[in-house]
Amino acid sequence: MCGIVGAVAQRNITPILLEGLRRLEYRGYDSAGVAVFDADSGIQRVRATGKVIELENALAATPAIGNLGIAHTRWATHGKPAEHNAHPHVSQGLAIVHNGIIENHSALRHRLIDLGYVFTSETDTEVVAHLIAWHYSQTRNLLQAFRNALGELHGAYALALIHEDEPQNLYCARMGSPLVIGEGSGESYIASDPLALLQVTDRFRYLDEGDHARLTIDGCEIWDREHANVERPVKRYEHAAHSLDKGEYRHYMLKEIFEQPEAISNTLSGTLGDDHVLTAILGPDAESRLAQVQNIHIVACGTSYHAGLVARYWIESQAGLPCQVEVASEYRYRTVVVPANTLLITISQSGETADTLAALRFAKDQGYLASLAICNVAGSSLVREADWRLLTQAGPEIGVASTKAFTTQLVALLWLTTALVQVRGLSPNQVAANVAALRQLPPLIEAVLTLEPAITTLAERFANKHHALFLGRGPHYPIAMEGALKLKEISYIHAEAYAAGELKHGPLALVDEDMPVVSVAPSDSLLEKLKSNLEEVRARGGQLITFACETIEQPGDDSDTISLPQVDDIISPILYTIPLQLLSYHVALVKGTDVDKPRNLAKSVTVE
Ligand code: G6P
Repeated sequence: MCGIVGAVAQRNITPILLEGLRRLEYRGYDSAGVAVFDADSGIQRVRATGKVIELENALAATPAIGNLGIAHTRWATHGKPAEHNAHPHVSQGLAIVHNGIIENHSALRHRLIDLGYVFTSETDTEVVAHLIAWHYSQTRNLLQAFRNALGELHGAYALALIHEDEPQNLYCARMGSPLVIGEGSGESYIASDPLALLQVTDRFRYLDEGDHARLTIDGCEIWDREHANVERPVKRYEHAAHSLDKGEYRHYMLKEIFEQPEAISNTLSGTLGDDHVLTAILGPDAESRLAQVQNIHIVACGTSYHAGLVARYWIESQAGLPCQVEVASEYRYRTVVVPANTLLITISQSGETADTLAALRFAKDQGYLASLAICNVAGSSLVREADWRLLTQAGPEIGVASTKAFTTQLVALLWLTTALVQVRGLSPNQVAANVAALRQLPPLIEAVLTLEPAITTLAERFANKHHALFLGRGPHYPIAMEGALKLKEISYIHAEAYAAGELKHGPLALVDEDMPVVSVAPSDSLLEKLKSNLEEVRARGGQLITFACETIEQPGDDSDTISLPQVDDIISPILYTIPLQLLSYHVALVKGTDVDKPRNLAKSVTVE
């Protein structure tokens, strides 16, 4: 989704801006642009549709060189993807870039048209550019004009502003969309994601909601929404040491699939005792407060929502607590009933998903006992705004389709389930068994990753398919949902997941020789039921592809079945995720799609 980079320095900042945009490419976008101030010619703006490389080509033809500038990758919301809609937008000597959505853009646009402003785009962002210009024409004070304009905006924004009258200053503001300030030596930067700036700094100030700031080469001044001068502490970016290139891998997604053993080890590091979990990682009073929990609500989007669905099976069966799981975009707009002592859990790899963040804010007035964020980004808004945080240590995930972030979320949720069993004094044996099972995960995943060649062969069967069904039962039903989501995201094959017991209630009508049916068949208490469901598919000529426990006797052709090691039931959903990720990846290769940046999708969905 949209990305922002900005810099003020004593050298040409265009290469910093372009490198920043390249690093944000994984988030998904359809056009890009820069605006750079040059003392001789004022603000130079260059924009292009398509990838950042198109912008680089445009800049080769029309160079923009200067010490102050802003840049943007746009993911179209208001107005189609086109050069005239790409950011930066300009007005009377200023240029701005914007992430988010201005909800009252239409009323503001009409007012500005009446004031004589001429619009060249359909965007809500151009409205903001003219609004700041109009306030500047009234005040001749850029900081005041910026504040006056911000005061009129409804909606979500991260904004960056430069003006020809103040060639030493870079202004920015955030409300509802992420923005960080990067500190360099003798230069300052901004970005919507710290990853964009890791080539120049690992020191960041995270702006709070409603903050706005002015950056110079010497540092920055920050004000809160009341315009009071505030300090936001400098934090070192903890993932700076992680490699951000693809290394030996063809795609980030494949690299991230293979990083899962390490990501899970890192996530578990410091959280487990010999036969118990270390609840103190949640905070000093976590043990007693967790013991108070009587209900759990989980809210998330996309892949993170699927992690929550798996956790419901664990929490209800082991901790004996009622657990409800919901997508954030629904939850935030309905009347929720919150029983006494309910814990709210939000799950997000990015910690910036607009709906999940809004759900957390909405929940603050709903009488929850506490909120817990499970997240992969320590400095994210979700982490900062929740009462408790459980950080996954997956490292940066660049592929849009989430892989290692998902399995580390599952690990965190199983850790939490175990913590609940422990603080409720339910079963020390269960706690010890979960801890042992969690420890076994990294080598088990290493073993499953060796199945890649067999999965590659299976993937070829999808070359001419347009649809696929995924089946699972129990906690493997959400794993089937995640498998189907992965396949649609990156191969564009329409895929649906069903709880296998639902087959006869509709989807069986779709089954014929053109319909691959992927099933997840661990050796658990539901296996015999699942086998009957699969026979129903086989009897109708459906093309069965089964990921099954090695101990199960295969009724069909061996080439249709991939065997996985037998493991403790509790970790089985995590293990069965891996072959489904590999299947989607290899089907996408067969289809020739853009694996890491699938069409129309964004890594971090910061607008609702
Ligand atoms: C986007 C991403 C998905 C992700 C979802 C939720 O749709 O493409 O991979 O699962 O957002 O994101 P979050 O950061 O909240 O987990």
